[in-house]
Amino acid sequence: MLIYRCRRPRVGGSVASRGIRDKVAIVGMGCTRFGDHWAASADDLLVEAARAATASAGLTDDQVDAYWLGTLGSGSSGLTLSRPLRLPYRPVTRVENYCAAGSEALRNACYAVASGAYDVAMAIGVEKLKDSAMSGLAGAAVPGDGTEPELTAPAAFSLLAPAYARKYGLDRSVMREVLDRIAWKNHANGARNPLAHFRRAVPLEAIRKAPRVAGELGLFDCSGVSDGSAAAIVVRAEDAHRYTDRPLYVKALSLAAGPATGVVDPDYDFTTFPEVRASARDAYRQAGVVDPKAELALAEVHDCFTVTELVLLEDLGLAEPGRAWQAVLDGAFDLDGELPVNPDGGLKAFGHPIGASGLRMLFECWLQLRGEAPPERSLPEAVRGRTLAMTQNLGGGPGECLSFVSIVGSEPSA
Ligand code: COA
Repeated sequence: MLIYRCRRPRVGGSVASRGIRDKVAIVGMGCTRFGDHWAASADDLLVEAARAATASAGLTDDQVDAYWLGTLGSGSSGLTLSRPLRLPYRPVTRVENYCAAGSEALRNACYAVASGAYDVAMAIGVEKLKDSAMSGLAGAAVPGDGTEPELTAPAAFSLLAPAYARKYGLDRSVMREVLDRIAWKNHANGARNPLAHFRRAVPLEAIRKAPRVAGELGLFDCSGVSDGSAAAIVVRAEDAHRYTDRPLYVKALSLAAGPATGVVDPDYDFTTFPEVRASARDAYRQAGVVDPKAELALAEVHDCFTVTELVLLEDLGLAEPGRAWQAVLDGAFDLDGELPVNPDGGLKAFGHPIGASGLRMLFECWLQLRGEAPPERSLPEAVRGRTLAMTQNLGGGPGECLSFVSIVGSEPSA
């Protein structure tokens, strides 16, 4: 078994998808406030997000033909959604793909509409973590052959920090400054977002002095444990203007699950997610994006930990390998930077209600590209006029993960 797990992936392996560029569009979205919803059930959150999404597309539940629900632990079938929405005998599918469950719901809804099987589909994600006793400090419980590493999420991702610092010659204090800066940025952005869980800007000094959680990672390096739900309505692109005058066209959807050999492969150095690189390459190809840093208006990335965001910036081609740390310190990814990354506050400020996170990222793209984000979160002059946005959603950990990348745009291709 161990030998099998160590087998290397094919060199140059890549995702070979045709894509469905401009075939479907998002015409409505809804998102609950994320946070400690002690008084609300998963049902309540689903109903709120679903109704907000249908209302924003001018629809009622009985006008949605099919549903995909992403959740890791807040339900195990389509009934988790059909019951609270009282759906009249509709196809409702629950999907799960680690922390990318919400993105998986979107991907399936988009393909179903693109295939012509349905006219209107909903992708919705939910997670109710606060009263489920689940937190990032819980270890994985999937039975195996005894060779699997048993690390908590903060511990697994904490391995990235010393590895990155060593590879690129950063001393510990500079590395700390970089992680502090990412936490500071995302909390500052979340403080401007009424839907975020943590709505306070956090001074750099407080971030620096926070109690350690795992390795170099302290409290403010971690995403929180939160409840929330988000939903999107998908229709064929040619029908989009029946529902809204500002649809978002789906340019690319890419999912790459890795061979999960990194944790036992001596050549894997914990400074990159090859799965993210593969899904980004595929998504850029599908969307015709050549220079993401110059073409995107914003990027929503999976900052489950500050150091994850640092590594993702390079894997997504938003910074050269070994250069993201300097760009972070220079403010390149701040709300008023060259390319805002996580302008809504990211997982850092929203927490990570697993099934909801991928669609919550899309919700910020929806607001920003339609010009509906509040003025205090508006995008800088540097990216005005750009019509594309990206979401990147990760499931698993360094060395064994899967990655989803979507690109959406406010204009159909010429
Ligand atoms: N970021 C910022 N503030 C946080 C926070 C976080 N991640 N987690 C908790 N807080 C705040 C709370 O709001 C609270 O503030 P208050 O005292 O002003 O009300 C305080 O810190 C204590 O909150 P509490 O819920 O008791 O924290 P905790 O010690 O139980 O949990 C962590 C802190 C870091 C352990 C928890 O957030 C965690 O497990 N995060 C990682 C989640 C994870 O791994 N997800 C999977 C990602 S792949």
